[in-house]
Amino acid sequence: MTETAAVLVPEAPTLPKLREAAAVCKACPLWEGTTQTVFGEGPAKARVIIVGEQPGDREDREGHPFVGPAGRELARGMEAAGLARDEVYITNTVKHFKYKARGKRRIHQKPDAAEIRACLPWLQAELEVVRPQALVCLGATAAQALLGRSFRVTRERGTLVESELAPIVSATIHPSAILRAPDERERQAEREAFAQDLRVVVEAMG
Ligand code: URA
Repeated sequence: MTETAAVLVPEAPTLPKLREAAAVCKACPLWEGTTQTVFGEGPAKARVIIVGEQPGDREDREGHPFVGPAGRELARGMEAAGLARDEVYITNTVKHFKYKARGKRRIHQKPDAAEIRACLPWLQAELEVVRPQALVCLGATAAQALLGRSFRVTRERGTLVESELAPIVSATIHPSAILRAPDERERQAEREAFAQDLRVVVEAMG
């Protein structure tokens, strides 16, 4: 087991080179029991990078980020905010699905600090290659990995944050939180607030 993925990041990286190198990453134990590394996707010249937590069950099986239920909420929020899919690079903080097997089901588990640290060089390399105008962190895992452990999404969501990572940086809730809303009314309110947070970034980009 390597300390972090840093030694695997190719020199003069491009997105295809990064994807290829990350496909065989064993920098933390999460690769065991997963189908594949789920690397980021989108144009190398994307204006915006959106960073989630980690692939879920569907993403692990299909090999693409945000293709499951949370991905549907993300797509809905992006559309409402006027963010076209082809101007966004979508990725995750951790590139393997962490889960606990319960019978035939695979229950999502939060990645821990060591797993996040091990995987971070991939995300840093994606940011360096894409050099987006705007970075949006979805949920506490992405926000704390990129903006610091003291970042609180509940307090700072939808605000513009000072960071060297991109000219415009912001964080909002993870779209899976919308799915956990107790009833349809709250779900709609969460959806609207999520879209509004994304609109802040769209408007800042001009
Ligand atoms: N949740 C995430 O954070 N990322 C995905 O790719 C899917 C669900």
